[in-house]
Amino acid sequence: MNSFEQSIGNLDLKLFEKISSQSNDHDKQSLLACQLATRELTDGYKYLEIGSYLGGSIQPHLLDEKCQKIYSIDKRPLSQPDERGVDFTYLNNSTARMIENLRAVAPDQTEKIVTIDGETRQLKPSEIKDKITLCFIDGEHTDEAVLSDFKFCLSVLDEGGAILFDDANIIYNGISDCLEHLKKVSINFKAYILPDKIFAIEIGNFPLHQNRVFLERLLGNYHSYLFALQTNDLYRQFVNKRPFRLYRKLMTKFKGLNKFE
Ligand SMILES: C[S@@+](CC[C@H](N)C(=O)[O-])C[C@H]1O[C@@H](n2cnc3c(N)ncnc32)[C@H](O)[C@@H]1O
Repeated sequence: MNSFEQSIGNLDLKLFEKISSQSNDHDKQSLLACQLATRELTDGYKYLEIGSYLGGSIQPHLLDEKCQKIYSIDKRPLSQPDERGVDFTYLNNSTARMIENLRAVAPDQTEKIVTIDGETRQLKPSEIKDKITLCFIDGEHTDEAVLSDFKFCLSVLDEGGAILFDDANIIYNGISDCLEHLKKVSINFKAYILPDKIFAIEIGNFPLHQNRVFLERLLGNYHSYLFALQTNDLYRQFVNKRPFRLYRKLMTKFKGLNKFE
């Protein structure tokens, strides 16, 4: 077993050490678990990511000799809308900077990366020349963009494959729309949350969850439950501020919502 295989088998965070990524340690290990399961279910796999920024989430795939191709789609706008109601700004966000970072991770592997500066609402699936096994959606955090990214991933996915989302605690309504879409078009799927905020959808027969490392991650999904509620708690704190609280008290009383018989 070579050292990469040992590291990924242990979900070793050092596979993320060279380029900073916006995911936390639990998320990174969940992403590594999905990568490990993908490489063990296939002879070789192709990875597509929407939203790459500095290349942090690409690095473990770049190091993986079983990953044959990496597509990175990133619109790289100066600021991007977000369901939290505040726009987010990414300074010095360029494809050239990302490739430079990735060259430092694995100088002889960067030719397997295809970069596309754009967004799925404007791209044609035919621009992706391969069938993809594993997708990661981490671009614009709006429900509309998430659904568009998901439909794009679905259209380029191999018969069996998986689509992952970061920040499920923010884009939960978009994820719900994606699941509704799958039901509407009668595509078989399995869906679950992994610590802390990675949402996974297996499409067709692609049982990532049967990999030996998943039991611990699935049993650890209490982290995701608490993470999601606690990161959204500021909204509860806001509606509990005095004037809103008084209004809610009055409305509850008026509608009789606080009475049980
Ligand atoms: C959260 S960062 C990605 C972080 C990266 N996945 C990581 O883990 O290191 C979000 C990225 O999405 C990109 N982005 C913003 N809007 C987009 C859109 N509509 N389509 C594709 N990418 C977008 C931004 O340019 C930014 O690089």
